[in-house]
Amino acid sequence: MKKKLTFLGIETSCDETAAAIVQENGDSTANVLSNIVSSQIKEHKKFGGVVPEIAARSHIENKISFPYLLLLVSGGHSQYLIVKGVNNYKQIGTTIDDAVGEAFDKTAKILNLGYPGGPNVEKFSKLGIKDSFILPQPIINRAGCNLSLAGLKTDVLRKSKNLKSNKERYNLAASFQETVNKILKKKTEVAMKQFRNEITGKSLKYFVVAGGVAANETIRKGLKEVSLKMNFKPIFPSKEFCGDNAAMIAWAGIQRCKKKLFHKKNETVKSRWPLDVKAPFLKGPGLKF
Ligand code: KG4
Repeated sequence: MKKKLTFLGIETSCDETAAAIVQENGDSTANVLSNIVSSQIKEHKKFGGVVPEIAARSHIENKISFPYLLLLVSGGHSQYLIVKGVNNYKQIGTTIDDAVGEAFDKTAKILNLGYPGGPNVEKFSKLGIKDSFILPQPIINRAGCNLSLAGLKTDVLRKSKNLKSNKERYNLAASFQETVNKILKKKTEVAMKQFRNEITGKSLKYFVVAGGVAANETIRKGLKEVSLKMNFKPIFPSKEFCGDNAAMIAWAGIQRCKKKLFHKKNETVKSRWPLDVKAPFLKGPGLKF
């Protein structure tokens, strides 16, 4: 019988600390035998220890054929990538200033919605009216599928100074979320056209959305609509795998190990590790499109 790879993944990149054990099934699927995020520890504590049913109910399915279009939207990254294979990415768009998750976090702070920022903006948006404020959509009709969020955040800050009630605060949160939704819908359409120009052929086109912001219901719904319109099959990880977690680290480890892609032990630490190392650096003032 062929040996199944079993990996321990450890994730310590931001506010979460997580560990997971993932075992491949040998058919491009895997079982998550354990998946613990430090913030879940309270959940397990209630039961006096780690409960296997809580930790191990997940199963990694569909990890899908290459190439596919990926939108990575987290607190540090916002990128459109053509994923051609393991460790083979082509970046076709990126944020030129703030990441989408960062804009959610800053908006939560400005509106005093509490921590964690993104999920709280989503929660309080439900109490607001999404088209009560008109907010800017920077570089919406230019710069391909590159994104810009800084101007939107600045306008939220400006408008927050004139709010007179909680209702208005929730309206501004809802309007911000809806504006991000519109920006991502439009830019995703552009990215999908670009993907089709580069990846020809009749095979089914997949669109994968990953990163903490992919847990947002409004954004999931908006991106599903674009996928339907553009004839892409959308794939969203279950919410527990959207944000920082160690199962994805273990799974990436299994894939890389099979390709013998090992890092050197003295690898330098980079705060924002680029997926496409050849992609141009598109950040800072003075960028012209
Ligand atoms: O992928 P992730 O856990 O990695 C880091 O960047 O650390 O993404 C975290 C980001 C945060 O900015 C968080 O506010 C955002 O994802 N986020 C959300 C939601 N859940 C997490 N943003 C919008 N709506 C959500 N439901």
